[in-house]
Amino acid sequence: MAKETRPIGIDVGGSGIKGAPVDLKKGEFAAERLRIETPKESTPDAVVDVIAEIVDHFGDRDRKAPVGVALPAVVTRGLVRTAANIDRSWIGTDAVHLLTERLGRQVVVLNDADAAGIAEREYGAGRDTSGLVIMTTLGTGIGTAILNEGHLVPNSELGHLRIDGEDAEKSTSSAARENEDLSWEEWAERLQRYYARLEDLLWPDLFIVGGGVAKHADKFLPLLHLRAPIVAARLGNSAGIIGAALRASRAQD
Ligand code: BGC
Repeated sequence: MAKETRPIGIDVGGSGIKGAPVDLKKGEFAAERLRIETPKESTPDAVVDVIAEIVDHFGDRDRKAPVGVALPAVVTRGLVRTAANIDRSWIGTDAVHLLTERLGRQVVVLNDADAAGIAEREYGAGRDTSGLVIMTTLGTGIGTAILNEGHLVPNSELGHLRIDGEDAEKSTSSAARENEDLSWEEWAERLQRYYARLEDLLWPDLFIVGGGVAKHADKFLPLLHLRAPIVAARLGNSAGIIGAALRASRAQD
């Protein structure tokens, strides 16, 4: 059961760090989101400063609210193991320890795509689907989340599947489409290979496609032919914040 306090979700990205308190009954922000530029040198200390500023901003509303932080990284038991779009000095950092000390609150830290997947499964495009849901975020890289009957299998990292000897996210991310100036059709051919491969390996009941480009889903999703339905995410760029907050609340229960 969710507590009455409104947990604060924070989503750390390569260009911005965003946070808001979340109303878990509605699955939406309880106050206007605050966004602060990611520091040029996005080291743990610099990023933690920004997170503390965001938490302070909302802190008066609910002093004891727990905090969930989504990072573009593999995170196992609070320890950061990889770093995509944040400084490499994150690797090996005990992020939960660092943030708990600094914020004086209960903190959970998880992968950004996992946070988005949790939110979409609970409140968004996956809420009516039982069975296996795979969330993918198409952005600078490809993030993935696997949820079976609502339970997350963390840190799936399927954006790094090798296709033709190459990391899938290199050729198939939204950034690849922009950098190579691909048409929607050209990009859809790459997406088709990627999702077909995922489908052959994992047989999901639903694919959800998130990331900024999901707002143009009508341009590329109809070009894909898969066994499972593939749909656009519904929560937009709120998903990471909402999922991180939900995780923080559940950890407290
Ligand atoms: C990283 C993932 C991350 C994704 C989206 C990938 O490059 O390996 O950990 O979830 O980008 O940020």
